[in-house]
Amino acid sequence: MAGPYLAEGTNMMKPVEVDQVQGIVRFGYGKLTECCFVLVTIQDVAAARLWLASAPVTSAVALPEAPQTALQLAFTHTGFRNLGFAPELLAQFSAEFQTGAENRSRARLLGDVGSSAPEQWEWGNETRAVDVLVMMYARPGMLEGWKRAVQTTGWAKAFRVVTELTTTNLDGIEPFGFPDGISQPELDWKRQRIPPKIEDTYTNHIALGEFLLGYTNEYGRYTDRPLLPGNEASAEFLPHAEDHPELRDFGRNGCYLVLRTLEQDVEGFWRFLREHAESDMAAEALAAAMVGRTKDGEPLADLTNTPVSGVDFEDRKNRFDFAADPDGRRCPFGAHIRRANPRNGDLPSPPVTGIQRMLTLAGLENKTLHSDAKASSRFHRILRRGREFASSRSEDPSGVRSAVQGLHFLCLNANLARQFEFLQSAWIMSTKFDALTDESDPLLGSREPIAGAGATDSFSTAGPQGSRQTFTGLPRFVRVRGGAYFFLPSLPAIQYLAVSR
Ligand code: HEM
Repeated sequence: MAGPYLAEGTNMMKPVEVDQVQGIVRFGYGKLTECCFVLVTIQDVAAARLWLASAPVTSAVALPEAPQTALQLAFTHTGFRNLGFAPELLAQFSAEFQTGAENRSRARLLGDVGSSAPEQWEWGNETRAVDVLVMMYARPGMLEGWKRAVQTTGWAKAFRVVTELTTTNLDGIEPFGFPDGISQPELDWKRQRIPPKIEDTYTNHIALGEFLLGYTNEYGRYTDRPLLPGNEASAEFLPHAEDHPELRDFGRNGCYLVLRTLEQDVEGFWRFLREHAESDMAAEALAAAMVGRTKDGEPLADLTNTPVSGVDFEDRKNRFDFAADPDGRRCPFGAHIRRANPRNGDLPSPPVTGIQRMLTLAGLENKTLHSDAKASSRFHRILRRGREFASSRSEDPSGVRSAVQGLHFLCLNANLARQFEFLQSAWIMSTKFDALTDESDPLLGSREPIAGAGATDSFSTAGPQGSRQTFTGLPRFVRVRGGAYFFLPSLPAIQYLAVSR
């Protein structure tokens, strides 16, 4: 007899119900270049449920060609509460989701301090809280019509718009001038991956449970999520949980979503680089060192000489790790992409065998200076789905408008603490990464001094001979203007939300 994980009458894992997953988990909707994120609060629960019941949410089913439009929905913890979720169910979401990104200690952990502190945000803080994120995507020229089509069936009665985040199609180039979205994890949609306890080489093929709840993750386990009694009548749309077949799984085929409005000081970024470089070419090289890739998207790491197996990398520009660059001479340790995904991280390199492997397993291996803040990166991956924006804002009473550019950073993961938050705090913002001190991410660092540790405003590179060059006095280039944690439910879970209880 087939178990809860196996397809009926076979030894195969049950296929993923892609028709129940929101499309954004599987597709970036790159052809749908027009996009806006509408953030709303619920003002009439019955009207909101009615709207949800008929909302044309787009699934992850692959069509012969990309759709003309797409709609995706995500909810904050308060959003679920305002929709009448039972307290027992609300308590089953992760602690990070329950407290929210605007929580003061959480904000400190994430580096949202000084001018990036939640009190300064334009949305997502206590005074401008949000319940629902409505993501609308459309092919060129179709967004306005799509918005009108979506905002019907009592929309105006159901919701109050807190803000609408517009986006700008910059052809995949983020405002500092670098291609974004090149490196993404490859999700194990076929459920074939059996994660090994120890992985000697960097892999990009990641267990589905790292991104979708209800499936096993890189530890071979199911992440905690809201499960309902099997006999709850209104939960009949929900599938049974694989690990608890007697319960209904609200989380299956859903995941957590992080949205942060990150404003980029493009002028300040390039001014700093020009002031610290002898020529425009040198300024560009320094910018590339900060990113870890050139303006063509080529990684600074060696593409030809790394021991990556290569079978699970779709994009040539992503088929590398840092094993061949242990001293950061090609790609600085502090470069944004090396912090955000150290790839081979603490994997022994080259792959070790015999006694050395035993010592590694027992934690008795020779630690190098830069093995401190790193851990196997496969446990800390995120799926990025952000969109750029470029608009203008009136800063003073005279009405003079200034350019505002940045990234509505959006990422998906199954475990906020282990994935997004770990990445943001232990790797990106940390001043103790890879034996570096006094620096945090050159693009994203807050530069706020840390009590007892001083300034965090430098960036260092190592030349071909190993000599270090340190740049100090980096200003803040990126400021957080808003943010929140959301849950992106499956399509059946949205139907569950639409039923009154
Ligand atoms: C305005 C803010 C940001 C800018 C301008 C920016 C820019 C970039 C660029 C140019 C790349 C290289 C291209 C690519 O591989 O896609 C990149 C990669 C990446 N970024 Fe960011 N980023 C920003 C914020 C963030 C944040 C907040 C996080 C996570 C907390 C993050 C995580 C990543 C990751 C995981 C990668 C891929 C690294 C790899 O696998 O090689 N980024 N980013």
